[in-house]
Amino acid sequence: MEKKERLLELRELLKQYNYEYHTLDRPTIPDSEYDALFRELKELEAEFPELYDPDSVTQSPGYEVLDEFKKVRHDKPMLSLDNVFSYEELKEWSKKITDVYGKIEYAVEYKIDGLAMNLIYEDGKFLRATTRGNGVEGEDVTSNVKTIPSIPKTIPYKDRYEIRGEIYMPKASFERLNAQRRSEGLEEFANPRNAAAGSIRQLDSRVAASRGLDGFWYYVPDDINASTHYESLLYARKLGFVVNDTIRLMDDIDAIYKHIEDTIAIRHDLPYEIDGIVIKVNRYDIQKELGFTSRVPKWAIAYKFPPEEVSTIIEDIFITVGRTGKCTPNAKLKSVKLQGSTVSYATLHNEDNIKDKDIRINDTVIVRKAGDIIPEVVRSIKERRDGTQIPYVFPEVCPICGSKIYRLKGEAAHYCINNDCPAKIVEGIAHFASRDAMNIDGLGVKRVELFHDKGILNSFEDIYTLQSKKDIILSLEKFAERSYQNLIEAIENSKANSLEHLLFGLGIRQVGEKAAKILAKHFKDIDALMKASSEELSQIKDIGPITAEAINDFFKDEHNAKMIENFKFYGLNMKYLGEEVKESVFSNKVCVLTGTLEKYTRSEATAILESLGAKVTSSVSKRTDYVIYGNEAGSKLDKAKDLGVQIVSEEEFKRMLEE
Ligand code: IVH
Repeated sequence: MEKKERLLELRELLKQYNYEYHTLDRPTIPDSEYDALFRELKELEAEFPELYDPDSVTQSPGYEVLDEFKKVRHDKPMLSLDNVFSYEELKEWSKKITDVYGKIEYAVEYKIDGLAMNLIYEDGKFLRATTRGNGVEGEDVTSNVKTIPSIPKTIPYKDRYEIRGEIYMPKASFERLNAQRRSEGLEEFANPRNAAAGSIRQLDSRVAASRGLDGFWYYVPDDINASTHYESLLYARKLGFVVNDTIRLMDDIDAIYKHIEDTIAIRHDLPYEIDGIVIKVNRYDIQKELGFTSRVPKWAIAYKFPPEEVSTIIEDIFITVGRTGKCTPNAKLKSVKLQGSTVSYATLHNEDNIKDKDIRINDTVIVRKAGDIIPEVVRSIKERRDGTQIPYVFPEVCPICGSKIYRLKGEAAHYCINNDCPAKIVEGIAHFASRDAMNIDGLGVKRVELFHDKGILNSFEDIYTLQSKKDIILSLEKFAERSYQNLIEAIENSKANSLEHLLFGLGIRQVGEKAAKILAKHFKDIDALMKASSEELSQIKDIGPITAEAINDFFKDEHNAKMIENFKFYGLNMKYLGEEVKESVFSNKVCVLTGTLEKYTRSEATAILESLGAKVTSSVSKRTDYVIYGNEAGSKLDKAKDLGVQIVSEEEFKRMLEE
């Protein structure tokens, strides 16, 4: 295609995508793909200035305004932000500024993934809330925004006060809303942003009120009460607005970039979604000189995080069987790159999920990889169907052993209940050997499968007899003496594990890592645990009656009791060996505590950090990793900000501990 043609095509496409995203709250491509097309268009427009069009999405910040709401003209246009996607681009942006002004201060903020909102107060009273709309005029959604509890209805301020920010839907509200919609057979929202936007555009404000929305406030246009952006936010906070407490002042792009990387690592643990970091010139006088383009301020930039969603095609759907017999449907995807790796498979969770989302073979779908978790199919894009899509019929029998599969009452998953199903045996043994269980390196699913097929590994106990199968193992294709020795050593070492590892490895229903630990700590050795009645078990904090019953059933089973005897014979440790130092975000980190924490005394917090492998020191330096601050934190906090050291509020600290 000719470049000019492509330019025109992109304009049309992006206009359509914009409409779907902003006006209908129903995006048909991932944001990352939109950003890439937007960028392509911008480059083409730079190459062909004669094709300038003020209506191009690159020129105007907005989208169409729906008719249902009253239209309101903004006092000042509501603008968007320019994006950068790499360290180099960020550096380039800041260089343009520092070349003129030298080293300057930036306010560095989370980019909240919601919808922009403008609030106006008149003589201390909440007057109006307006969406961005096309940037010049937006929709009056006052009655809906009024239902958000954290938004002040009155403020101690005379005159007109205008503040801008983001309305968002916390992840918890989003999960709740989609679960409810699922149960009512309604289509789910694609993401919290769309859900927030959809909720704000409800004509009945009771609906918006029920959706658990919230807001962060991050911009006061030309605040007469301040001379910097940061001051304007502190002032806003005083007036009663929720200002995100992660905002900080920084003057070094390298430190800002480190902060971006750190934030990417924790973004999934935040209770709300963010899609980048916004960097703003702090001083108003410099902001004024830098000014605006028609679409964006030149004094701010958004660093967009790498995409977690891409679109691709489902080539096939197949079932895998886990150690509990759970049958999980998976999608075989046309391979796509996502966060540096190639994704070819994604989970579809269960039959209902496929049905609710109407996911079909040959569908174009959005695939998401959040953190380390297995990629999942988020939704199918019906707009891309071409008649070749085939609805998936969930099988009636286990694809591995052929026995009938069942869906228990109240459960979403199907199960293969055949105890001899090879898939269950193999997965169960691999789980037993996995890192958090017995930690036997070299005994992953593939190898267990190999040994199982050879007939030398059919149960947990068989692991401890593998040294007598040396000849058979070495006769297996590609099995070297060296890796055999390593395996036998890992098996030998596993015998010394503390009891909780064995308990977790056994795969007792309901007993995950946490319960295994509680049980090991409580009973100290396995004999005491095996003797405990269901009643006794359910007295333990955090062990419910169902878990208690499952544990009791497990050890009552003669086969299992015999297995434990065999383990003892093989020399496995059956005792709890005390607290292990856990790998955590604080491992090997240098932390400083400052101010008064509400939930912990200084020595409690120190003890917690040290138990997680952190070093707690008293003064802040470049070598400090985290400054954890409470109320009335003073100079140490300032110093941390100066040095670009990551600061952690008590709230965040609590969240990090829960990881
Ligand atoms: S400042 C003139 N700060 O991102 C300055 N925007 O992609 C206007 N956003 O339209 C925006 N978090 O809806 C700013 N901390 C933050 C933000 C933020 C999210 C949104 C906002 C804006 C969009 C641009």
